[in-house]
Amino acid sequence: MSGSVTIVGIGPGKDALITPEVQTAIAQATDVVGYIPYVERIPARDGLTKHASDNRVEIDRSRHALEMATEGKRVVVVSSGDPGVFAMAAAVLEAVEHGEAHWRDLDIQVLPGITAMLAASAACGAPLGHDFCAINLSDNMKPWSLIEKRLRLAAEADFAMAFYNPRSKSRPEGFGKALKTLRDACGDDRPMIFARNVSRPDQAIKIVPLTEVTEDMADMRTVVLLGSSQTRIIERDGAPLVYTPRSVAG
Ligand SMILES: C[S@@+](CC[C@H](N)C(=O)[O-])C[C@H]1O[C@@H](n2cnc3c(N)ncnc32)[C@H](O)[C@@H]1O
Repeated sequence: MSGSVTIVGIGPGKDALITPEVQTAIAQATDVVGYIPYVERIPARDGLTKHASDNRVEIDRSRHALEMATEGKRVVVVSSGDPGVFAMAAAVLEAVEHGEAHWRDLDIQVLPGITAMLAASAACGAPLGHDFCAINLSDNMKPWSLIEKRLRLAAEADFAMAFYNPRSKSRPEGFGKALKTLRDACGDDRPMIFARNVSRPDQAIKIVPLTEVTEDMADMRTVVLLGSSQTRIIERDGAPLVYTPRSVAG
């Protein structure tokens, strides 16, 4: 039997947001590899071995997946959201590039999923309806000076923005520093959206003017969106709708 590694995204939370293609890959897998809470989401069944590992061991996990595929297993590597967005697809490919030469001959595929920022955007309207960018606010893999530079330039270019990994217990001060940079660089007010546990039963969406945001509003279960200078709020009975118009006057 020839083995394979399929890196899949299981979406932001609810099962209805897992694509049929990913469901089929999981149904055909002999082994599932991933971070503990994501592997827990995969139902146990005969013929499937689950290999859950802790955070921050992405390269070891990738090598393990590639070794099992070499032995003929059909290995699925799970990520939340989309596997190409701050997740396992790049980690597996880094392991391939720097690993055993024969790993390059394996059947390796990446299957997309619905990433947190798109589920969050849909939950409040269309704040990413015009040009936008996504920035990971964790400085585990890059220096803070680079994050700050990207925030400044994205604000100068008037992008709407999505922020992943906004604030963790080990990095409590980063989000506050990002807020200061954004307030200085934006120069005007605009809505910031805190989307916590999107598509899960305890989903919470908060829309707060940038000038009134406090750093404790974000945590690791939150994806944060920031509108551009053009972003609008439609007030109505019930939750407001946020959107960024598709065009900008010339
Ligand atoms: C390591 S990144 C993984 C992103 C994932 N690959 C994706 O495409 O959504 C983890 C960050 O994604 C965001 N995130 C993931 N799932 C989320 C959800 N259901 N609700 C809100 N934010 C989420 C949070 O910012 C979290 O800190």
